[in-house]
Amino acid sequence: MSDFLPGLEGVAATKSAISFIDGEKGLLSYRGYSIETLAANSSFEETTLLLLEGELPSSADLASFKTKLKSHYRIKYHIREMMRHFPSSAHPMDMLQTAVSSLGMFYPGTECLTGSDAGEDLRYVRNMTVNIIAQMAPLVAMWEHIRGGYNPVEPREDLSVAENLLYMFTGKEPDPMLSKIMDVCLILHAEHTLNASTFSALVSGSTLATPYSVISGAIGTLSGPLHGGANFRVVEMLKEIGSADKAEAWIDNALANKEVIWGMGHREYKVKDPRATILHKLVNELISDRGNSLDSTFKTAMKVEEICKDRLGHKGVYPNVDFYSGILYAEMGISADQFTALFAVARSAGWLAHWREQISDNRIYRPTQIYIGSDVRGYTPMSERS
Ligand code: COA
Repeated sequence: MSDFLPGLEGVAATKSAISFIDGEKGLLSYRGYSIETLAANSSFEETTLLLLEGELPSSADLASFKTKLKSHYRIKYHIREMMRHFPSSAHPMDMLQTAVSSLGMFYPGTECLTGSDAGEDLRYVRNMTVNIIAQMAPLVAMWEHIRGGYNPVEPREDLSVAENLLYMFTGKEPDPMLSKIMDVCLILHAEHTLNASTFSALVSGSTLATPYSVISGAIGTLSGPLHGGANFRVVEMLKEIGSADKAEAWIDNALANKEVIWGMGHREYKVKDPRATILHKLVNELISDRGNSLDSTFKTAMKVEEICKDRLGHKGVYPNVDFYSGILYAEMGISADQFTALFAVARSAGWLAHWREQISDNRIYRPTQIYIGSDVRGYTPMSERS
């Protein structure tokens, strides 16, 4: 019997060639390409193909993938009608999980999955992968309008995933700088080794459940406050602080009360999260481009970072990716409760890459347990129980 390690901390649950983290050096790479290289040169679409197929695509393969994605932006009428009947107070993650799971009913095909990486399997896997990745962002953007009682904005097939997401959210021509930032945010959130939601995708995938079940399960896992959701709390925290001049007193008070500062620290990284460094640069570019027209939250955030560096830097606690993504999404006009759903949009690429890796060399997950319950005992009739 092996030792029990709570949370499986340090236990290797799979072998994977998809991504790599070196937390001491602050390094994250997808398929051997550093996140800095991908953020500077790639697009969400290209990074998705890299994660899925293992290599950077040729220009013909990328063009064909983009065309297929665009042709699947439109959401089925019945799914849209179903969404109109959801309670308007429903959390975007609950909506997304339900909508993705429901989509699966329109694309049956479990019989295609046999756990081999060939023929029928591969065709089904590729088609469903495109379908899911293409539809995640439109579903999230549609919900913004549907929950308010409005008709959603129709998708536009001339736009990239990032541009179309902003367009469907705002109904306005997407701003080039904000579109670039959204594209980088999608790249940065697309994959992060074997976290809880990815592990959930592996476990469901190992039963040869459909990709819709796999992804809806992963969305449910991501929805918990210990996984997704810190960027939402960053924005709430910055609102509560109010202004840059109040940041120092607020942080000192929070730390004295042993509270966490949202968006600071990461279990994997003991130096600044490399994704945070990339987003910090984009925040600075946005500040120098837009100056005072930006929300005052940016000034508060910069002050919070400066003070946290002084108070927490010696513990290896620095801003993580969520510290900046929240303020950037807020500037794009996206409601704070949608931030985790945007994380899911991006992470669908990583989840599906891990799903494909799992089923191409599958063995069903069936761990063991250490039984700590009672020995076998006799049944006590009701009349004899006290
Ligand atoms: N605010 C204040 N103090 C923090 C902190 C934070 N955000 N993150 C870590 N610390 C402190 C811990 O209290 C601990 O202090 P101590 O040594 O005096 O007890 C020290 O830094 C070391 O932290 P550690 O316990 O090793 O961190 P962890 O790996 O257990 O926790 C997180 C990692 C992410 C859970 C934690 O940093 C956190 O809660 N951050 C805020 C939530 C967040 O932004 N999550 C998104 C992650 S992408």
